[in-house]
Amino acid sequence: MTTFSDRVERISISGIREVFEAAGDDAINLGLGQPDFPTPDHARRAAVDAIESGKADAYTENKGTPSLREAIAEKHRADQGIDLDPANVIATAGGSEALHIALEAHVDAGDEVLIPDPGFVSYDALTKLTGGEPVPVPLRDDLTIDPAAIEAAITDDTAAFVVNSPGNPTGAVSSEEDVREFARIADEHDVLCVSDEVYEYTVFDGEHRSPMEFAETDNVVVVNSASKLFSMTGWRLGWVYGAEERVE
Ligand SMILES: Cc1ncc(COP(=O)(O)O)c(C=O)c1O
Repeated sequence: MTTFSDRVERISISGIREVFEAAGDDAINLGLGQPDFPTPDHARRAAVDAIESGKADAYTENKGTPSLREAIAEKHRADQGIDLDPANVIATAGGSEALHIALEAHVDAGDEVLIPDPGFVSYDALTKLTGGEPVPVPLRDDLTIDPAAIEAAITDDTAAFVVNSPGNPTGAVSSEEDVREFARIADEHDVLCVSDEVYEYTVFDGEHRSPMEFAETDNVVVVNSASKLFSMTGWRLGWVYGAEERVE
């Protein structure tokens, strides 16, 4: 009989399966966040050119090619006015790997990680893989993440809290006031804020802001990905950025 590691045994996907099975054929599947537009043509062509010209034949720098990291830094400068040094960007295999390494790098066994509830399924699983303890923090009635609830849940064992705006599965967008609070909490309590911003462009109401714009310490790391922004879910291209000490 196959025996998985204790860490993997802590992760349950059976609950998700049960929901899918119970939903029936006429249910609308909101399970995968697949954008409803194609990957931009120029991105497809650039990938083909890169392969044909041999650019994909060799190892790159561990953190990703300088031109990609410069493009990512430029995106955040242009969209959010964040003065991001490309040296502080790590390109990853999707937002999923970005989340994984952000948590893996900062959470020790037994540490608590506060996660939005309901929230993206991976937060619970990835925290468990680090050996940490996920602590669900309920959303407000309007489905936004409640900074006061996060602050109230912080203990001496809290290593990090995850925020996600626009949020999966709710689509709720945190107000600037709340996002400023996320930054303040990270600063004042000296805990890491992992800001998952993969739905940055999926805003129907409100405005996307990042705690990175407001934090005064190096206690914020941002996870993002081309998957939802540019409909490139199959490409597995994401990134994480933060202060030099966080990503070196
Ligand atoms: C909130 C959230 N974060 C991260 C991810 C992972 O993104 P990627 O597909 O780039 O790995 C997803 C994917 O659905 C997501 O919904």
